[in-house]
Amino acid sequence: MNSQPIAFIHSTARFLPERVLTNADLERMVDTNDTWIRERTGIRERRIAPDEMTAADMGARAARCALQKGGLAPSDVDVLIVTTATPDRWLPSTACDIQSRIGALDCLAFDLSAACTGFLYALTVAEGFIAAGRGETILIVSAEKMSSIVDWSDRATCILFGDGAGAAVVRPAVDGRGILSSHHLSDGNLAPLLERPAGGSAMPLTPELLASGAHLVHMEGREVFKNAVRSMAQSGFAALEAASLSSDDVDIMVPHQANIRVIESTAKYSGIPMEKVYVTVDRYGNISSATIPVALDEAVEEGRMGPGSVVLMTAFGAGLTWGAVAMRW
Ligand code: UT7
Repeated sequence: MNSQPIAFIHSTARFLPERVLTNADLERMVDTNDTWIRERTGIRERRIAPDEMTAADMGARAARCALQKGGLAPSDVDVLIVTTATPDRWLPSTACDIQSRIGALDCLAFDLSAACTGFLYALTVAEGFIAAGRGETILIVSAEKMSSIVDWSDRATCILFGDGAGAAVVRPAVDGRGILSSHHLSDGNLAPLLERPAGGSAMPLTPELLASGAHLVHMEGREVFKNAVRSMAQSGFAALEAASLSSDDVDIMVPHQANIRVIESTAKYSGIPMEKVYVTVDRYGNISSATIPVALDEAVEEGRMGPGSVVLMTAFGAGLTWGAVAMRW
């Protein structure tokens, strides 16, 4: 536990593209139906970015807004960390693309790869920069264009994901507010459960691989589900214990939004009632690493959390990666 928090979230922002893709729309695309999707996932609709809008475009909009809300200029940014499973391209990083778009030219910028857990890993990395005295304003941008890597003919996955971006400015803690503890792990043995097999150096794209869809998201949904609940609950407990807190102390839980049943099971195992859990999955589906910063921004705006609130964030994703961060807002 941090006896005194080192870093806190100074401001947040979100960007969601306007176009709504409903379950009824999906019924016209694959063999599925609204009842199945709602009952098995809790998702009613998700946002889809236009073809010409990239992850960096969405991330830059959220980033500018987070800086503005925090009363900061792009030139104040010391470190820019971008989390994305859908980089604009493989080289250079999407962080450099966002750096250029927002004009934050006096900082170091890099991508952090941890799939849906990216935002929580990035929070801990940002805390480390501040603890080491290597920066005072760390901008985290989680930007995802999941629609560009989803197999739109696979009903088991295409119904789950959406596009969007969230951003958070992390600054040195004040008045005892900030990150209290974190717990992160990963297990590379479980990588085949959720992956994009082709398109990297292990399996460079060929016309045949492209035609087979091997560059798109492949997932063993049921296995990922089981691991997700177990790992998020474990990390949540570990983070709370490290901060000498119990689940009763949690004012609001902001989990990764993959499936309402994953969220409900995690909350139940964690001993946190659903009234204290913030949910966006019904409206946005799974926006990978952007789900938590988008949810934080909405929850603050709606008055569901504010200065002094004890917030527990938990996430899991491809890797597999998972983690939790406890914070006094
Ligand atoms: O951020 C990390 C991302 N990963 C996740 O969020 C994955 C977590 N896992 C899940 O959310 C769930 O496992 C899914 C929603 C992906 C699937 O739900 P499930 O209850 O585990 O379903 P299932 O895969 O066991 O499939 C049950 C049935 C199958 O039919 P049969 O074999 O029983 O006849 C599927 O073919 O449901 C069928 N099915 C569908 N039916 C209608 C699968 N997808 C659909 C669909 N519409 N879209």
